[in-house]
Formats: sequence, structure tokens, C-alpha cells
Amino acid sequence: MQNILITGGTGYLGSHTALSLLLRGYKVIVLDSNINSSYLVIRRIKEILQKTNRNYIKNLTFIKGDLREYFFLHDLFSRSIENGNYINSVIHFCGLKSVAESKSYPLDYWDVNVGGTINLLKNMDKFNCKNLIFSSSATIYGEKNKPPFKESVSLDPVNPYANTKATVEKMLWDFFQSKKEKWKIINLRYFNPIGAHGSGLLGEDPLGAPNNLFPQILNAFYKNKKILIFGNDWPTPDGTCIRDYIHVEDLVEGHIRALETSFSYEDGFDSINLGTGQGTSVLELIKSFEIANNCSIDYEFVGRREGDTAILIADNSYALKKLNWEPKKNIYDMCQDGCKWINLNPNGYSM
Ligand code: WQD
Repeated sequence: MQNILITGGTGYLGSHTALSLLLRGYKVIVLDSNINSSYLVIRRIKEILQKTNRNYIKNLTFIKGDLREYFFLHDLFSRSIENGNYINSVIHFCGLKSVAESKSYPLDYWDVNVGGTINLLKNMDKFNCKNLIFSSSATIYGEKNKPPFKESVSLDPVNPYANTKATVEKMLWDFFQSKKEKWKIINLRYFNPIGAHGSGLLGEDPLGAPNNLFPQILNAFYKNKKILIFGNDWPTPDGTCIRDYIHVEDLVEGHIRALETSFSYEDGFDSINLGTGQGTSVLELIKSFEIANNCSIDYEFVGRREGDTAILIADNSYALKKLNWEPKKNIYDMCQDGCKWINLNPNGYSM
């Protein structure tokens, strides 16, 4: 069975993907520095695997380290070959991901998101690992394009986070063009992943203050706090920003489909949107959460947040066709699974 390296594998998306691959019988190496995620995720993944009465746990390896350290990564790849666990493919989640934070610390974003990817590519190339799924972002579509966004539009990143994602995509294209051998690279452009694993044992647990809307809604719900809505003067029906929220489990399924589709390629380079094609405003998401969980959430309108754009919605027709994938869960599923997560884990993974 294939051995998959997941960078950023104890993060929100990485952990859900690691679990899903393990349940399908893959071998998985989870690599993470834990600067923005908890090692306790590994314990939760094992807890879920144990319930299956199948010995999947033997297929899980966790390695702590920083993607920016060339020789750490070199050692990881060479040891995997020595112990007969050659890494066939990489799903590359590792990266900093807050639009707002990237405005304040752009160099950190360039260092981790771009520098880390260069290091990864150098080692993949050296150790003949030619299959890469890259965690890209819908924020690279920016403001000039008219939503819903097709993959073919010209990119218009408008904040440092989006700049790093667009730069990595260009770098991957240059690298792919330079190779004669059979490389397969797929950029998956996410919209807004939210929700949690149905068991309530895995979820989003950003270390430090949660920047994203959905963790703020969970926070407001559990701690009876008010949400600050960044602007109600946007060019949208209710004046608040519209996003394409997708259940994390649907997003993970999209990754598995992309990985398994890439096995059938001789070689290839592709960019694919993973979104639902449905837009939901900030106010609508709050309202949906209240209906799904029979609760009420207090909020207050404040000024716009730097780097935000009014509307981000996917045209996901290419993903439906190319990956034979379509999202199955609706906004209420996302809100109910998120609520289950916060109720079972009010302090995230820390006890
Ligand atoms: C959503 C909306 C805010 C917090 C995310 C990820 C990014 C990328 C794209 C994958 C915006 C508003 C937020 C709050 C608010 N995903 N908001 N009050 O900015 O779309 O980016 O999706 O690559 O990694 O971060 O998501 O949840 O931060 O904001 O009003 O307290 O909610 O203004 O309109 P965003 P978000």
C-alpha cells in the first residue's frame, strides 16, 4: 500500500486527511512542527482508529520537525527508504494561513509557505518522490475576478497570504516544466473549510486567538461572547462578506480523490477548486448556526478587516468532472458538527 507523507499533518485539514487515509489502509507519515497545532491530535487519531478493531495504527508514524530545515527533511526521506517505507506521494498542508496575520508578519508567511515548499521540492526531487498535492487557496482569485471563480481566470492575490499561495503555484509550474521525468502536481484551491469530524474527536483548534469566523462563532456560542462582524457595508445583499463554506470532511474527500486520480496519470499538472459553489454571508452563517443548534449568537458590526474581499465562491464544475467528487454536507451539517466539537472540546485538544 502507498506511503503518504502529510506535511502539517496535525493541523485542522492535515489531521482529518491523515485519519481518512489510514482508514483506507494507507501508510501515513505525519510531519508537523506543532507551532500552530497540538501533538495531542495523534492521540485522537489513534483513539478513532482503535474503535475500528483493525490494526491501522501500525501504519501511522508521527515525526516532529520544521519543513524549512533541509537536512531534517533529507533525513526523513532517506530513513523512509532505509526502513522500506519509501514515500510515494506528499500532501502538503504545512503553512501559515491567516489573511489578517499575514498582513502583520509577511516575512513569516514567505519563509514558511514558500521557503518550506522549496525545501520539500528539493528533497522530493532528490528521493524520486514525484507526486505532490498542494494545499492552495481561493484567496488567490482576489477582487478583479467575478465569482464564482473558474480555475482558468487570472490570479489576483491581494494579501501576503494569498501572494505566497500564488507564488508557490507558479514555482510548482516552473519546476514541473523543468522536469523531463513523470511528475504529477495538483494544486487544490480551498474555499472556506469549517466543521469537524463527525465523532467530535477531531476539529479546528488554532493555537492562539482564532482568526477565522467559524472558530469565533464556536467561541461565542460556548463562552456566550459577542462576535465582531468586520463590515456590513460590503457590496452584498446583507452587507456582510460572502464565502463558500465547505465541510472539512468533504474537503478531505476531495484530497483523497485528487491523490487517487493522480495515480492514474502518467504525468500532469493541474489546479482544481474545492468548494460547494454556494455562497453564505457572515450573517447567514451565524443564522444557520443558531437554527442548526437551537441557540442565539450575539454580534456587533465593526470596521472592515484589512485584506478581506467581498465575495469568494467556487465554480466547482471542474472538480466534479475531473475528480468525480462532489460535496455532500450542507451548512447545517457544518454547524452541527462544529457545535459537537466545541461541546466535547471547549479547550480544543488541551485538557
Ligand atoms: C470569513 C469572513 C471576515 C472573523 C479563510 C482562511 C484562508 C483561506 C480562505 C484556505 C470574512 C469575516 C471573520 C471575525 C468576521 N482558506 N469575519 N469576524 O478570510 O475568507 O480566509 O478562507 O486557504 O486560509 O483563513 O476566512 O473565516 O477569516 O473570514 O466578520 O471575527 O468572516 O471578514 O469576511 P477568510 P475568515
